[in-house]
Amino acid sequence: MVKKYTFGTPFNTGAIVEDIKAESTPVPYFEINTDEGISFSCKLADKDIVYGLGEATRGINKRGYVYNSYCSDDFCHMETTKSLYGAHNFILVEGKKTFGAFFDYPTRLTFDIGFTKADTMRIYCDKADIDVYIIEGSAPLEIVKEFRKVIGKSYVPPRWAMGYMQSRWSYYTADAVREVAKNYRKESIPLDAIFLDIDYMDEYKDFTVSDERFGDLPQLIDEMKAEGIRLVPIIDAGVKIEKGYDIYEEGLEKGYFCVDKDGKPFSAGVWPGLTHFPDFLNEEAGLWFGLKYKALTDLGIEGFWNDMNEPAIFYSEKGIERFYEKLAEITNGDKSVDNYNKIKDIVNGLQNSQEDYNSIYHKVNGKLVKHNDIHNMYGYKMTECTAKALEKLRPEERTLLFSRASYVGMHRSAGIWTGDNFSWWSHILLELKQLPALNMCGFLYVGADLGGFGCDASRDLVLRWLGLGIFTPLMRNHAALCTRDQECYQFENPEDFKNIIELRYRLLPYLYSEFLKCAENDEMFFKPLGFEYKDDEVARSCEDQLFVGNELMIAPVYTQNALGRYVYLPEDMRAVRLKKGGELQFEDMPKGHHFVEIPLHEVVFFIRKDKCIPLAKSALSTDAMDFDTLRLIGFEGAKYELYTDDGISSDLNKIEKKIWEN
Ligand code: NOJ
Repeated sequence: MVKKYTFGTPFNTGAIVEDIKAESTPVPYFEINTDEGISFSCKLADKDIVYGLGEATRGINKRGYVYNSYCSDDFCHMETTKSLYGAHNFILVEGKKTFGAFFDYPTRLTFDIGFTKADTMRIYCDKADIDVYIIEGSAPLEIVKEFRKVIGKSYVPPRWAMGYMQSRWSYYTADAVREVAKNYRKESIPLDAIFLDIDYMDEYKDFTVSDERFGDLPQLIDEMKAEGIRLVPIIDAGVKIEKGYDIYEEGLEKGYFCVDKDGKPFSAGVWPGLTHFPDFLNEEAGLWFGLKYKALTDLGIEGFWNDMNEPAIFYSEKGIERFYEKLAEITNGDKSVDNYNKIKDIVNGLQNSQEDYNSIYHKVNGKLVKHNDIHNMYGYKMTECTAKALEKLRPEERTLLFSRASYVGMHRSAGIWTGDNFSWWSHILLELKQLPALNMCGFLYVGADLGGFGCDASRDLVLRWLGLGIFTPLMRNHAALCTRDQECYQFENPEDFKNIIELRYRLLPYLYSEFLKCAENDEMFFKPLGFEYKDDEVARSCEDQLFVGNELMIAPVYTQNALGRYVYLPEDMRAVRLKKGGELQFEDMPKGHHFVEIPLHEVVFFIRKDKCIPLAKSALSTDAMDFDTLRLIGFEGAKYELYTDDGISSDLNKIEKKIWEN
C-alpha cells in the first residue's frame, strides 16, 4: 500500500505514474519539523537496517553515514563522497518497523542515516515543497514491488546489450575500432559491442562524425554488424556554440536552450569548449534534441550512452569572468600560504559550481524555473526525451540506452552506468553494494565500468571484476584516456578472460530470462541476502554477497592476492566452479560458513536449494548463439520457468514462458 503526503507545492517530477490522492498528515513513522525548510525524523532500533538510495557510497545497509541527493560529476569518488551521479530518494527500513519511503524532491535532499545521532534518521531539504510516499508491506521485497508498481515498468534493453561490451576513451579512428574487434575475434573472446567515446565526433559536436577519423563510419557499422558487434556512440548534453553548426543555430533560433536570469542562453565550457545546454525540461526542446539521434540511427546505430548530463560544467562563461576578477584582486607576487589558498579556491571553484547551477533557468509551461530547484531531473529528462524520440525513430526494435545522471522515473526509459570509477579493489565492492539499491529504484539495466575507469588496471583486478561483471546486466569494460589499455587481449593468457566471459554467455538464457521476469513483475534482479532471510542475522548483515535472480547467489572476490574468500550460505546450496579450461565442477555445500578457494582464473557461484538454471553454449556474440538448445544444471527434479523472446522486438507481449524440468 502506497500513501502520499504533500507539503507545499512540489514540482511534478513524473517519477510516480499512478494517480495517488494525497492523505492528510501526519506522515506515519516520521516526526516533521518545518522551522527551516522541512525535515523528517525517525528513530532507528539497534538492529534496523536502512536499505536504498540507489547509486550511493557506503554499504548495502546505509546506516552510519550522511548522503546528499544531488546529481554530481565526481570523477574521484571515495568512501566519504556524499553525492554521486544519480539521485535516488527511496529508502526501506527493515527491522522493528518495516516500511519504505520515497521523497519526491528534485534537488538537494540530505539523508542523515544515523550519522549525527546513531539512533536517528533525519531527512531534510531547504524548501517545504515535497511529496512523500510511505510504502507499507509485510516484507522488504513486497515493499519494493509496491513502490515499483507506482513508478512504472523498468526499461528492457535489446538482448545483445547483455553481451560483453568494450569501451575506451577513446578509440580515435575507425581503424582503431577494427583493431579491437580483430583482437577479440583472434582470441575468440565473445564481444557484442564497441563504444565510441567523444572523439568519433567532429570537435565534440553532438550528431556529427569526424570526417578525418571516422569518414567511413557507415561502412564500419556494417562491417562490425556482420561480425555480431554493434557500435554504441556517446551523446553529451552540451551543444557547441559555433556559427554554422545546425544544432546550435536551430536551438538558438527556437529558444530551446537553458537561459540565464536575463533570458540569454547560458554558456558553459565542456569538452567542445563553450556550449549551451538544451532545455530538457521543455518537452518540445527535448523531443527536438531526441530526434537528432536520427543522424546516427539512419546509419544503423542501435544504441547510445548519454553523458555529462548532471549537467557537468567545467566552467561557465560568467564563472570565467568572475575568475579573472578574483584573480586580479590577489596581490601580485604574494608568496604566502594565504594567497596560495586563495588561488586554489578560485581555481577549484570553477567546476560544477553551485553559483552556476543557481544561475541557469528552464522554461516550464511558459514559466522560468531555476535549474537548481530541479537539478536532479536534468539527466533524467534528457534521457527520457531521447527514449521517446528513439521510439519514433526505431519503433519496431528496442534501442540500447543508458545515462550517467538519473532520478527515479528515468528507469522507465533507460539504464545507467555508475559513472567514473577507479581501478580500485574497493570499487568492485562498491558496485556490488549499489546493484540491489539501484534495483529497488527500478533501475535494472545497470553496471559499472569494469576494470575501472580512472588509473591503471592490473590484470588480476580486471579478472576479479569480470567475476562480478558477468552477472551484471550491463557488462562493459571502459577506461579513461591516459590509462593502461585494459581490453582482455592486452594481458597475458587472454584465454583466462575468454573462459570467464564465455561463462557469461553460457548463463545468458538465465540472466536474460530473470531480467525479463524482474521487468514484468517489478522484481529485483539483485537482492541482498537479508531480503530472503530476514530472521537470519548473518544474512541480514551480509554486505558482499547477493542473490542474482531467484536461483543464484554470488560471492565475488574483491581483494588482491586472495586465495579465495569466506562465504556464508543461508541455506544448502550447490557450488558451481568454472575451472581454467571452461569445465564446470559441482559441489554440494551445507548451510553455514565456508572458506571457498577461488583461484584467480576461476569463478564460483551458488545454485540455491532445489533450484536449477538453464545454460546455453557460448558463441562469439549473442547473434551467433543458439538460445533454443539449453541444458539445465542444479538440483534434480527442480523446475525453471524460462522467459524468452526474439531479443529485440519493442513489443514485450511477445515474451514466451516455458517450464523446464531438471
Ligand atoms: C565522462 C564519462 O563518465 C566517461 O565515461 C567518458 O569516457 C568521458 N566523459 C569522456 O567522454
